[in-house]
Amino acid sequence: MDFRFSDDHQALLHTVREFCDRHVKPAAAQIDREARFPRELVDQMAQLGLMGIEVPAELGGAELDSVAYVLAMEEISAACASTGVIMSVNNSLVCDPLRKFGTAEQRATWLPPLATGDKLGCFMLSEPEAGSDAAAQRTLAVRDGDEYVINGVKNWITNGPQADVGVLLCMTDPGLGHRGITAFVVDMHAPGVTRAPKDDKLGIRGSHSCQIQFDDHRVPATQRLGDEGAGFKVAMATLDGGRIGIAAQALGIGRAAFEFARDYALERKTFGKRIIDHQAIAFMLADMDVELDAARLLTLRAASLKAAGQRHSRESAMAKLMAAEVANKVAKNAIQVLGGNGYVTEYPVERYYRDAKITEIYEGTSEIQRIVIAAALSRP
Ligand code: CAA
Repeated sequence: MDFRFSDDHQALLHTVREFCDRHVKPAAAQIDREARFPRELVDQMAQLGLMGIEVPAELGGAELDSVAYVLAMEEISAACASTGVIMSVNNSLVCDPLRKFGTAEQRATWLPPLATGDKLGCFMLSEPEAGSDAAAQRTLAVRDGDEYVINGVKNWITNGPQADVGVLLCMTDPGLGHRGITAFVVDMHAPGVTRAPKDDKLGIRGSHSCQIQFDDHRVPATQRLGDEGAGFKVAMATLDGGRIGIAAQALGIGRAAFEFARDYALERKTFGKRIIDHQAIAFMLADMDVELDAARLLTLRAASLKAAGQRHSRESAMAKLMAAEVANKVAKNAIQVLGGNGYVTEYPVERYYRDAKITEIYEGTSEIQRIVIAAALSRP
């Protein structure tokens, strides 16, 4: 096992850290306060190749691997978790399935604008009645000549208010259950697509999500992603990759909280000494350090398997479960270390606490990750 990063990975880390210090970190509190979509940061990330990290260079991407994606996601999310998830959806839930399941024509049409920032993507699986139970799709696609006609409602769609392109999952044959689900690539500006106002959220407030309604929306059959009935597997395989991104986002949030608490504990004095010299605080910080590293190793393992083209459902689920739970614990304890200062918006720690929560929910709740891990136990 080699724990060193390649020259490409180190160069990427250097570039992303510099970008975060200069542009992302200083903007994060205001993005959160105003629930503002950070368009200028998305454009800058695209210029750095961060919107299509694993997309081949000939299609406009950075042609790096999943480990590079994890490194970049952790850095961006440590600076601003909202900006992190905007990038993550575009990379792992839109570019990735196009790369993996798209026809040559679909790849050539959609990947260059997605990777270069001309277009932004969203992933439409969840519905009001189909969140954790992703196979319970009600949105219907009915074949009509060379097109499909789509009707239904999608919920909590991250990047939904801004997206130009969407990967859409819906039923083509409700009688077949999950084997009746089909994936499509859709133009979000075409007739029959209506976006509701953005959701008002606890955290990641700069990343907008909304409900999206399809009314007789027509999609050419050439924009079907994979075979009819293969959509559930497209969605699950896509989420195997996406969960690595959310694990990295959680790591970023947790690390930011840990570093802030550690620096604070080195300065703040009570009872005549630095609070880090009180064992109650020192042990909290030690646990944060260990647990973040453990989550990071799980995340990098999942990314390495993905980069090697091996199945990584279990490992992605483990990484996301661990990283999300650690991020939440670390952010909660970071507030405790800061005491009253942790609870006020003058310090960023309450934002980390609010931002961390979503990592236990989207791309599969922690309970769903346990289902995926447990299912692997009984697979030969
Ligand atoms: N890769 C490929 N195929 C897979 C797979 C995977 N990872 N996981 C399951 N499958 C296949 C199975 O092999 C099975 O195939 P057969 O038809 O050949 O038998 C089929 O899919 C059905 O599998 P299950 O019986 O396990 O399916 P299930 O209905 O019990 O559901 C589940 C499994 C894991 C609970 C799934 O429903 C799930 O992941 N739910 C959570 C949904 C989720 O994560 N949503 C996130 C929305 S996106 C989002 O959050 C984005 C954002 O905002 C940032």
